[in-house]
Amino acid sequence: MANTNLGLLGRVAMITGAARGIGRAALHRMIDEGVHVLAWDVDPAWAEELKTIPTPDHVQIRAFIGDVCESLAWQQAVASALDHFGRLDFLFSNAGISGPAQPVSRYEEADFDRVMAINARGVYLGLKYVGQHLSQQGRGVIVNVASISGLGGGGNIFAYTASKHAVIGMTKSAAVHYAPLGVRVVAVCPSPTDTDMMAYAERAVMPDNPQAARPIFTQGIPMGRYAQPDEIASVFAFLISEQASFLTGTIVPVDGGCMAR
Ligand SMILES: NC(=O)c1ccc[n+]([C@@H]2O[C@H](COP(=O)([O-])OP(=O)(O)OC[C@H]3O[C@@H](n4cnc5c(N)ncnc54)[C@H](O)[C@@H]3O)[C@@H](O)[C@H]2O)c1
Repeated sequence: MANTNLGLLGRVAMITGAARGIGRAALHRMIDEGVHVLAWDVDPAWAEELKTIPTPDHVQIRAFIGDVCESLAWQQAVASALDHFGRLDFLFSNAGISGPAQPVSRYEEADFDRVMAINARGVYLGLKYVGQHLSQQGRGVIVNVASISGLGGGGNIFAYTASKHAVIGMTKSAAVHYAPLGVRVVAVCPSPTDTDMMAYAERAVMPDNPQAARPIFTQGIPMGRYAQPDEIASVFAFLISEQASFLTGTIVPVDGGCMAR
């Protein structure tokens, strides 16, 4: 067990989009911290896959299959965490999709609705239903996953950019509402991160040689590389800990210097 002295042992986290990428890295980081996890994904294979992840005796992981767009799924997820673990302390609202790489003039309405439903409505429902529970108990932290696309324009990923700006706005509004009730709400804004999402973006740019597309995405990053998923998970672990006790409404770029340019 990694003992990082963040004081999270025995707490309970809910992580959406836990099967892959950044969510999966957050799950592994929580296991290392001794945090129990309701690991949520829309992928029905997830429940079986989760059984193959080694966990120490003092940590319990429970799979939840559902779509973050659906209100009922959120209500069931909160109930499931409380039934199984008897408490819920943290939410990592991470599930998201990139949608088509198209500008507004060519963006299909159905694609717009789908991206906004998962990336924005899903975050709203988490803030509402998990936030209600955390505020009733008078403590807890919600970390939303936005993007550097929530901090500036991305001409070719129209709905993604819109949805991530919405995540930042919702984070700030919810932080102000929940602060007197003992709940902190923050957002992280990763730059391109080495997950399936970037592999999809690389294939969209260069279908025949996706690896060759990587320099196109790294050229604007002062550190000259993608983030690794565990570098985002580390910031999540810090933000939910008491080390970050006076941070709320804070938008944290995790971006190798992108937003400093
Ligand atoms: N990878 C990047 O470059 C990058 C950069 C900035 C922000 N982000 C954000 O980080 C988050 C995670 O991205 P990732 O790169 O790990 O993506 P990923 O595609 O590797 O993983 C996303 C996970 O979310 C799950 N998911 C998708 N739709 C869902 C739904 N409706 N309900 C529940 N689960 C659902 C998927 O099954 C998958 O397991 C997203 O919000 C993304 O926008 C990613």
